[in-house]
Amino acid sequence: MTLRCQPWSRADKRADKENLLTPEVRAEIDAWLAKYPDEWKQSAVMAALRIVQEHNGGWLTRELMDQVADYLDMPPIAVYEVATFYSMYETKPVGRHKICVCTNVSCMIRGADRIVEHLENKLGIRMGETTGDGRFTLKEVECLGACGGAPMFQIGKQYYENLTPELVDSILENLEADDGE
Ligand code: FES
Repeated sequence: MTLRCQPWSRADKRADKENLLTPEVRAEIDAWLAKYPDEWKQSAVMAALRIVQEHNGGWLTRELMDQVADYLDMPPIAVYEVATFYSMYETKPVGRHKICVCTNVSCMIRGADRIVEHLENKLGIRMGETTGDGRFTLKEVECLGACGGAPMFQIGKQYYENLTPELVDSILENLEADDGE
């Protein structure tokens, strides 16, 4: 069985690709597509989903995933599989700041539980929830590859390591300052 892109059976019914996504998003995806041969377009699916998610307030709608599938000549199910497998993608709305807390082995041994408890108390939400003002989402994730700095979490593209409750407070205060609050 080949994994190469074959014109998918819905191809004839597909909207003109010019009508898919926005020109800005298409341009960013095209930059990734340029790295792969035409028959391996699906190799850009992770980048495409990340780009689309960033342009949609941090989450992916079914319609957007379908458009990515059409743009990359993939069956929608193959795109859903990627979007629901990796923790970096969201299929429901999230807060402005998504705090991805690692609770895997190294972080657990180094006190991730204490960090989770502190965050939940401080923000008044549990893991998987978003604050009522839409500013913070708490998400539990597996190892983010920064075990040497455990316990750690990720917010946006930034890693925060060797966390303590005091450091968490300071990070949240800085985010509030950045938000102008
Ligand atoms: S276990 Fe937390 S970053 Fe690896």
